Amino acid sequence: MMRAPTILFAALLAHLCAGPAQAAEAAPWLNRDLSPDARAELLEAQMTQDEQLLLLKGYYGANVKMSWIKPAPLSIRPLLPGSAGYVPGIERLGIPALRETDAGVGIANTNWMRPGDQATAFPSGLMNAATWNPDLIFASGSAIGAEARDRGFNVVLDGALNLAREPRGGRTFEYAGEDPLLAGTIVGEQIRGIQSQHVISTTKHFALNDEEIGRTVLSANIGEAAARESDLLAFEIAIERGDPGAVMCSYNRYNGVYCCENDFLLNHVLKHDWSYPGWVLSDWGGVHSTVDAANNGLDQESSSGFDRQEYFGDPLKRALQDGTVAPRRLQEMVHRILRTMFDKGLMDEAPPAQQPSAHVDAAVRSAEEGIVLLKNEQNILPLTRSAKTIAIVGAHANIGMLSGGGSSQVVPLGENPDDEVFVGGPVHVLPNGARLMPLGREIYDPPSPLSAIAQEVPRAKVRFMAGNDISDLARRVATADVVIVFAEQWMTEGEDVKDLSLAGRQNDLIAALAAANPHTIVVLETGGPVLMPWLDKVPAVLETWFAGSGGAAALAHVLFGQVNPSGRLPITFPQSETQLPRPVLPDPGSSYAPFDVNYFEGADVGYRWFARQNLKPLFPFGFGFSYTSFALSGFSATTGDAISATVSVTNTGTRDGAETVQLYATPPAAASVPRLVGWSKVSLRAGETKSVTIKTEPRLLANFDPAGDVWRIAAGTYSLSVGSSSADAALSTSVALAAREIKP
Ligand code: BGC
Repeated sequence: MMRAPTILFAALLAHLCAGPAQAAEAAPWLNRDLSPDARAELLEAQMTQDEQLLLLKGYYGANVKMSWIKPAPLSIRPLLPGSAGYVPGIERLGIPALRETDAGVGIANTNWMRPGDQATAFPSGLMNAATWNPDLIFASGSAIGAEARDRGFNVVLDGALNLAREPRGGRTFEYAGEDPLLAGTIVGEQIRGIQSQHVISTTKHFALNDEEIGRTVLSANIGEAAARESDLLAFEIAIERGDPGAVMCSYNRYNGVYCCENDFLLNHVLKHDWSYPGWVLSDWGGVHSTVDAANNGLDQESSSGFDRQEYFGDPLKRALQDGTVAPRRLQEMVHRILRTMFDKGLMDEAPPAQQPSAHVDAAVRSAEEGIVLLKNEQNILPLTRSAKTIAIVGAHANIGMLSGGGSSQVVPLGENPDDEVFVGGPVHVLPNGARLMPLGREIYDPPSPLSAIAQEVPRAKVRFMAGNDISDLARRVATADVVIVFAEQWMTEGEDVKDLSLAGRQNDLIAALAAANPHTIVVLETGGPVLMPWLDKVPAVLETWFAGSGGAAALAHVLFGQVNPSGRLPITFPQSETQLPRPVLPDPGSSYAPFDVNYFEGADVGYRWFARQNLKPLFPFGFGFSYTSFALSGFSATTGDAISATVSVTNTGTRDGAETVQLYATPPAAASVPRLVGWSKVSLRAGETKSVTIKTEPRLLANFDPAGDVWRIAAGTYSLSVGSSSADAALSTSVALAAREIKP
């Protein structure tokens, strides 16, 4: 139902050509001096009901035939951008179409693949969180925003933020770990960075979509106070910092009710308590009703072809006619979308350049800071350049760095679509010329770590040793000066990993190589935590997550000491699955009948669960070594609106480096465990001392009181500690706080 340009549009154009003053007269909503709300109201007044309904329904953005997706109408098909989503614009009023792309780790172009259509693969969300560096993630967010804009997109489906309650969750790599303050801060900055490029970013998946198996039927059950203090707090912080234009409601149910028709989540928490002014769009296939969804807070059906039937469009029109959805609700839905388009510059900015750009430098910088040094016995790292032979084994290290699968999959720069190994399988060419990536298979982001390492030591023999025969490989690496063994754990949307063990015979391979050569270094490329039965047999372990297009260079810089590792774990590494709140994953069976997952650990997610149960993990949250050492001294704290803690940090080693000073607080209630309440990442020259001041996030000192709809800080003594991880209370003190309420 695209409308031909009308007289008003022609008049608008004429006035636009005549100059800004006349344009603003014919189309007063173009007046930038007015607020986004006022501009939206002026525009809404010009719209027919059919036009308003048009804004509330989107289509899958790729014009491909798949049995489970109902195709867009013929009139829309030629306009589809070949990406995740498309909402038609209204030409006569100058309202642009919403062209939506996934971008969890860069512009996800698997559905839009023409030769040469590649994008920068950025580090995974978990690796971003491992940097503990909000400024850096703002910068990589703005690079993602620029890449989206340059490719003609104006909505970026990023801001992925679900707490890692289940480290086996298939999208753990896309999210920002287990702590609400760290995750909310990092993702909030990424959103702010993306939107600095005049494109809208979402935050998703709202809420408690913390695991993949059965995600469309499971009910995540957790009491209100616990949800507010954990998963919802992460979103609250990200929304405050990042001001995302849209929130994507999730597939799952929360306490029995689908999230895209959940009055509590959408109306009560998001729109009322948090005064969120943007709009709620559904996950693809996440809508289950018309009247309940519309009345309970959903503003836009993202991809009607993915839902079991169309719920907005004509059904919503009928609901408006029979009065089950009130006209003022329609106004509100439209207003939220339009005011956000004004607010984020979609109505005013010049159209995107459509000159695909790349930002490998930004990707290298975040990967460098996200690599975590987990072990470094006798300072085997950094490697000296005197090594003459380096043997490299495992995980296609001669091809690229592993990436995560699903809707966030990027076709990476340097990928050769005809090369089966680069992309994990042959590219599928559809009759209309579109090219589909082999989703459901591992994809390796070039360049290869092999080449990046070889570049660092041009005179050494750097060899990739292929083969499945472990004893043969062990024999061949025995005489090398250094062995670098790459081990991988692939994760993808839509599935959880069955356990935290490295798949196949990788554990045996590492143990055999370490036995054959004591200079065996392990490089992990994993979506999240893995178990390490060989840990005491190897001298060094680096966690590189899914590091993207900048990963190989970043790794080489860390291996040879050009970069001193400063990443810290944003998630606990358990010793075994038995330490997790739910040692066994749910099994929805073949019927996929609805089932419950009870989050009885409440707000004590990750390290807080480990503290509560008095469990010792393999590696604690916040942990990571450096090539230098740090000492803390002179810890003190003052109280006011929030607690402010001051501590001196000294680089006691011989190399420059960066320490992440973490502040944990334990509220007075008997069952409380320490919570991260603030941190500071500080760069120090060798021998240098700096004083850092960390302000606490007050909601992390509080508990949520659902009866009063308010955060309450209890009167009493709060223990405070600073250290280099959740398990390292290097210095401690305490402060007394008076009782206080904080309105959400
Ligand atoms: C994912 C979303 C994604 C959407 C569009 C869904 O399956 O859960 O994260 O944005 O697809 O590709």
